[in-house]
Amino acid sequence: MSDRFFIIGNCKQAGRLAYFKSLLSEFSDLSDETMDAVDFVLMPPVPYLGLLARESGRLPIQWGVQMVSGRTDIARTGSYNAEMVVELGARYACVGHSERRQYDGETPEILSAQYQQSVAAGLTPVLCIGETRSQRDAMDTLVVLEQQLSAVFSSQNFDKLPKHDIIVAYEPVWAIGAKAPASAEVVAPVFAWLHRYLNQCFGHGQHYICYGGSVNHETCRQFYEADHVSGLLIGRASLELATLKGVIVECSGC
Ligand code: PGA
Repeated sequence: MSDRFFIIGNCKQAGRLAYFKSLLSEFSDLSDETMDAVDFVLMPPVPYLGLLARESGRLPIQWGVQMVSGRTDIARTGSYNAEMVVELGARYACVGHSERRQYDGETPEILSAQYQQSVAAGLTPVLCIGETRSQRDAMDTLVVLEQQLSAVFSSQNFDKLPKHDIIVAYEPVWAIGAKAPASAEVVAPVFAWLHRYLNQCFGHGQHYICYGGSVNHETCRQFYEADHVSGLLIGRASLELATLKGVIVECSGC
């Protein structure tokens, strides 16, 4: 197991201010020992970010965003760039979530630009990758993952980026929003392959691989204990306080 275990809450377009405020007040119940054992990152909808980051004070919550623009042009109505969210308190940015690839038409070129803009502004990207059910059935999982990884890590100017933590979230698309996660046993070969791939690109121990897709407090432990898994990206489980706290406790090893 790596030295860090990330629990990253992707709140999507859900959760309202009242929920996030109750999260801040209820998190003070978790012991320092529990919170110190994990890297807890919350990615609320951006309109709430600045307020929450300010109000969280000394709570051990790190803040992130679900997307930043890859464009630097001023004439992009409705967009916001990485430097802006850094000013609001963000330290992490999701890049390439399957919902954005699928519904917002984010192409490999756009995602590579988002990744580079994030790092340039001082954010740590969480690069999401994953295959669809039909790609898996066609035994194309590793081909798809390799394309998604190389679109970012082999892109022009990647080598000129400042050194940063490499975090990849493997989220099989067929397990997102499903009744149950993929089992750790079923995805173990993918994690082993990702581990080798990232070792080759970045060197041993220089990267973190997270699992995402339908994890909750009852199913997280198998991933926490699995080889090469250094974190979880959780969607629905980040929007239910008891479940979220349960995931943190289960993965703190306390
Ligand atoms: P889920 O979402 O945990 O609700 O399946 C995960 C994600 O989309 O990152």
